[in-house]
Amino acid sequence: MNLDQEFDRYERVSDEEINNPNEELFAEPDEDPEDDFEETEEEDGDDEQISNQSLNESFAQVMARRIERRHFLKGAAVTAGLLVVSTEAMTGQADASVNLGFTPVQLSSEDKIIVPPGYSSDVVIRWGDPIRAGAPSFNIAQQTAAAQSQQFGYNCDFLFAVPYRRNTLASLRRAAESYVLWVNHEYTNPELMFAGYNASSPTKEQVDIELAAHGGTVVAIELRRRGLFLGGEKWAVDLFSPLNRRITAETEILLTGPAAGSDLVKTAADPTGTRVRGMLNNCGGGITPWGTIVTCEENFNQYFGNLTNLPTSDARRAIHTRYGLTSGASERRWENFYDRFDVAKEPNEAFRFGYAVEIDLFNPSAPIKKRTALGRLKHEAATFVTAADGRVVAYTGDDERFEYMYKFVTEGKLDPTRGAANGDLLDKGTLYVAKFNGDGTGEWLPLVGGQGALANWTQAEVCINTRGAADLVGATKMDRPEDIETNPVNGRVYAVFTNNTRRGTGTNPATDAPNPRANNRHGHIIEITEAGNNATATTFKWEIFMLCGDPSVAAEGTYWAGWQGGVSPISSPDNITFDISGNLWIATDGQINTFRKNDGIYVVPVQGTQRGNLRQFMSGVPGGEVASLALSPDNRTLFASIQHPGEGSTYDSPTSTFPDGGKPRPSVIAVRKGDGGLIGS
Ligand code: FEO
Ligand code: CA
Ligand code: CA
Repeated sequence: MNLDQEFDRYERVSDEEINNPNEELFAEPDEDPEDDFEETEEEDGDDEQISNQSLNESFAQVMARRIERRHFLKGAAVTAGLLVVSTEAMTGQADASVNLGFTPVQLSSEDKIIVPPGYSSDVVIRWGDPIRAGAPSFNIAQQTAAAQSQQFGYNCDFLFAVPYRRNTLASLRRAAESYVLWVNHEYTNPELMFAGYNASSPTKEQVDIELAAHGGTVVAIELRRRGLFLGGEKWAVDLFSPLNRRITAETEILLTGPAAGSDLVKTAADPTGTRVRGMLNNCGGGITPWGTIVTCEENFNQYFGNLTNLPTSDARRAIHTRYGLTSGASERRWENFYDRFDVAKEPNEAFRFGYAVEIDLFNPSAPIKKRTALGRLKHEAATFVTAADGRVVAYTGDDERFEYMYKFVTEGKLDPTRGAANGDLLDKGTLYVAKFNGDGTGEWLPLVGGQGALANWTQAEVCINTRGAADLVGATKMDRPEDIETNPVNGRVYAVFTNNTRRGTGTNPATDAPNPRANNRHGHIIEITEAGNNATATTFKWEIFMLCGDPSVAAEGTYWAGWQGGVSPISSPDNITFDISGNLWIATDGQINTFRKNDGIYVVPVQGTQRGNLRQFMSGVPGGEVASLALSPDNRTLFASIQHPGEGSTYDSPTSTFPDGGKPRPSVIAVRKGDGGLIGS
């Protein structure tokens, strides 16, 4: 089942109704004149659903009334406060298809976002922007942790825009479309954040700001008209939305699933082994069939220092070594101020990071949960699909050289009447790791404690030392598994392997069929067909879809899904998505290292006569990866995270001044076509 089908469960409201709200919800006349982006009290104050009541109560009241009258809320979004979504808005135009007709852009080193002729890009939100009315405005010279915790965090990564309708006269009048936007804040670049940063001796104040700059952001955004003289439209944050919030490295998060309560996750601060402070290095993510988001902790190892001070006789040391914890001082030296980041002082704290974290965007009071059943690894992302029998499947990759690709299959089945309560499905099921055979077949090997090679393991141990378990069952070592996504049109699974310059070198693993290039600088993409097109299958077929690189350099051995014509050069594919026609959109992370050019966004058809005809759609800025991309459901906006602009330089002399001409600030951008047309057309 694809996302469009999943979202079909949201309330059906016609586009006409959205544009012409009737008296059911809106009794009072609108008296405010149009304005250009200026927030007014009115926007908050006239909201019938949230005035002086808790969000849940008012939402429940409104929804109860609407369900009673119209019987159209089918369940999945019942808990989603304020959520009223047009099916058409979620699924795009039913009869629309994307005919890729844009003029490709070229690789660039310019310090600006480059999009094809006829397109434009705007900043939606940038590091330090207040996320709610009354939050401090950004002042890079006077940062505080308290301010940062109310501002957009650093290094935006995975983003997802969930359509919703906030039932206020003001927002409906002003906004053609509204979304709740989730954005990860993967990590910090203190050398770009702070003047005179001393990497060997950061101040406690700097560390506290960094803790607050990690995590994620929820903000409501609206597509607003720019006003009479500016023309066009622009995405802007609704600073008055009650859904807006920050999650940081200090926010309380529950551990659930097999590892919860295990001795290995108990600490001095949390003897129950169930309550973690914060999430770290959230890279990719996904959206569940019930409308929550799952954001994934990736390189959590880099936050924990002093592993060498843990005695070699301590069995935990070997696990921490397998996960690459730092032997001496950590890169950011948080352990100088907080014992939990010192492995010798709190050996179990690192076992509480490296998970897929579920968040209900529409219910700020709902607990956030680290779903340990999906394994502990350097998760790139998690992509959810519902199988025909109702079980839910999550694909996830472990982004490091020679690591593995996984999937989790729930034991229980999706119940559309349970809404976000379906999240508990993620606590019980089977975790598998992929084995790719040389003949184009593959197997999903179960990681079940007490069985086979894991006979002496508990499931808690499997979910904490997932890499160790996968080592024992004979999984295939891949060239850095990044994003894995299912194509809503052809049902196939596309897995991205970003690069691995150590493949086939020295004593490292040699090339093999699924990782066919030694010194794989540019990465590749594999196309997987599950047996019977069933996501719960335990066998699959696979083929190489693309071997990336510069097509003009024969020695790079590029391959473009059989396409023989020209293509745009591409390196280090990372995150992917699909448009409504099933074309594969790719964001890159690393072209600065290979082509000495900026990262970008590309699109390639996966079917038909144009299969493999890759074209570059966008170019980013110096030092900045394009960390995430998401198309609005109507495919008329492309959101992208421009992460770490200027990375590789310093605060005093940055290589990028994106987005405003001053110090570089990681930002979410929105790309639109001038005529409002489909992205890519
Ligand atoms: Fe944070 Fe695997 O990219
Ligand atoms: Ca990534
Ligand atoms: Ca990456």
